[in-house]
Amino acid sequence: EMDRFISELMAKMTLEEKIGQLNLVAVGFDVTGPVVSQNVEENIRKGNVGGVFNTFTPVAARKLQEMAVKHTRLHIPLLFGYDVIHGHRTIFPIPLGLSATWDMGLIEKSARIAAEEASADGLNWVFSPMVDISRDPRWGRVAEGAGEDTWYGSQVARAMVRGYQGEDLAKENTVMACVKHFALYGAAEAGRDYNTVDMSLLNMYQNFLPPYKAAIDAGAGSVMTAFNEINGVPATANRWLMTELLREKWGFDGFVVTDYTAINELVPHGLGTEAHVGALALKAGVDMDMVGEVFLKHLGQQVKEGTVTTEEINAACRRVLEAKYKLGLFEDPYRYVDEQRATNTIMKPEFIEAARDIARESMVLLKNRNQTLPLKQSGTIALIGPLATSQRDMIGNWSGAGDWKQAVSMEQGIRNVAGNKVKVVYAKGANITDDAQMLERLNAHGGELQIDPRSPEQMVSEAVKVAKSAGVIVAVVGESQGMSGEAASRADITLPGQQQELLKALKKTGKPLVLVLMNGRPLALQWEDENADAILETWFGGTQAGNAIADMLFGVYNPSGKLTATFPVEVGQVPIYYSYKNTGRPYGGEKLDKYKSRYLDVPNEPLYPFGYGLSYTTFEYSQPKLSQNTMTPGETLEVSVTIRNTGNYDGEEVAQLYIQDLAGSVTRPVKELKNFRTVSLKKGESKTVTFPITVEDLKFYNRELEYVYEPGEFKVYVGTNSRDVKEAGFTLQVNQ
Ligand code: IFM
Repeated sequence: EMDRFISELMAKMTLEEKIGQLNLVAVGFDVTGPVVSQNVEENIRKGNVGGVFNTFTPVAARKLQEMAVKHTRLHIPLLFGYDVIHGHRTIFPIPLGLSATWDMGLIEKSARIAAEEASADGLNWVFSPMVDISRDPRWGRVAEGAGEDTWYGSQVARAMVRGYQGEDLAKENTVMACVKHFALYGAAEAGRDYNTVDMSLLNMYQNFLPPYKAAIDAGAGSVMTAFNEINGVPATANRWLMTELLREKWGFDGFVVTDYTAINELVPHGLGTEAHVGALALKAGVDMDMVGEVFLKHLGQQVKEGTVTTEEINAACRRVLEAKYKLGLFEDPYRYVDEQRATNTIMKPEFIEAARDIARESMVLLKNRNQTLPLKQSGTIALIGPLATSQRDMIGNWSGAGDWKQAVSMEQGIRNVAGNKVKVVYAKGANITDDAQMLERLNAHGGELQIDPRSPEQMVSEAVKVAKSAGVIVAVVGESQGMSGEAASRADITLPGQQQELLKALKKTGKPLVLVLMNGRPLALQWEDENADAILETWFGGTQAGNAIADMLFGVYNPSGKLTATFPVEVGQVPIYYSYKNTGRPYGGEKLDKYKSRYLDVPNEPLYPFGYGLSYTTFEYSQPKLSQNTMTPGETLEVSVTIRNTGNYDGEEVAQLYIQDLAGSVTRPVKELKNFRTVSLKKGESKTVTFPITVEDLKFYNRELEYVYEPGEFKVYVGTNSRDVKEAGFTLQVNQ
């Protein structure tokens, strides 16, 4: 049916009209790249545009859709894309925070709500999920991903696609997902955005490609190319990547869009002239050119010259039209433009409630000496720090169409939850940054960060005075929202500005010191860990962040989030991740052992490992029990462990299962996450959780890049994080 419809339509299309479908333009509501599209309306009327992005609202979308449908010869509707990254109008925690929920149901729900809102607001296509694995917190876009782990990232990728696309893409409340950035964008050298990537095929297959594949297997309708190169060929011109791997091996049948001006950027990459790289990109498998207009400018001439074939253009055009067909746009071009639905849907109470719930689940308790938290709802709290009153930062970077003025600040959240049972005294204490150059960069694209005119000494002494008048200090510190995300790499990942100096002065008051952190990446927090009494990681929690933080601080809820990215002791340790290789000279903690894989000046271990997160209560794990000590490929082995709540609160625990393959034809990591289970345990209660293990969990890529299992010894680790585990072992027997 679809094929016939599109064939008939394409039979009527001129070459120019086909090339027009390959052109994606940006309307200037938002600017997400170095240039913006010119003459948009004129180009739409001429049939030179296949889709638009960076605009929303039914009014704006209807106006442009009418231009395409009423004024072009063949009335082909436009796609409407947008960076809906962690919510559309109702904003959820940044993706790194979302991933810390370890709750696929909630992650899917956040994407579902985003789709409900976006699809009523003129949009039918979202540039999400970002599934790039990254092991380098200097890279600002770790904020937008699901952390460092391949298996876990693949679960999140699936959940997000399901949430956006639902069961039926043609339904009015679903939108098409765009998996990005294909591929390896998170592995930029030295964590500097847009930098070169160089990676072995084995590492690529084993650790970086699976989340893209998972999203595609979940039915994602489109893929966005990455800015970086892969094996010497930029992703956007990489035929091996987009055609051989993505389409031929993985069976992807959607369309590929470039990232912003990525075809034009093939010129500075060093591949040749603009016309030449345009042809390269098309031939490699790109269907749609984002903003750069290289296709629009050059493809017509190139067909005449014979450097590009009509078939190549037809193939790309067909894939773009298929996406429109799948979205039901030929049936009703205004399906996603619904003023009434927008009014009824956007930020409705149940979405706001979900935002608060998801924000709570995303928070990670990093430290809690002497049960400093939860706080009592009485006495005086000194609320200190540059982020304590911020609304803008709460919704984080790339918060779509979210209105920060509707976000709940921490100060407001405390008032909402504790009312006048507590007295709150406030001081700013420090700027987030005092670096004028950084400030200029952050504010260049609509930032609102301001430097307080008072001297650092004045600010600190005011804060100390305020602190002395209170029973407990809650210091809200971290990064401003613009310090992570795209083009926001940092080489120093400690608390920016004078914030640590402020904390040192506060520490001297001797009052209990609680840190509430807001940040878009793992930070290096050695001093903070040694000196604070409690640390609650809250990321950028979204529309309801302030309420959710207050819920946690006062113990209305008990934290259960777990890190999905390792927090290093020092930036010099990065890239750092739990699933490292043993090496030939592993360092086992021996005192006088120089010739081992270690540093002279810092430990190998991170500050907080992957999977880490505390609760107000405590959990005790039994020794894991295996249903059998040997298994054969057809069998399912079961690992069970009993978890007991040994503390004073009811709580929720994410029990994690890791496996290690002790010997293989290629070297294998010291452990890899293979499963997890969340258990709710009342105070004093015990439950047994059981994990099945099959050979699927034991597979890896061998030297020939075949996905195989090999017989031999395996270790199983179960625990509360990737470090604190209990182990057992089994043998896989394969009869040959
Ligand atoms: O979707 C984004 C991408 O992640 C980075 N460059 C710009 C695109 C569109 O805004």
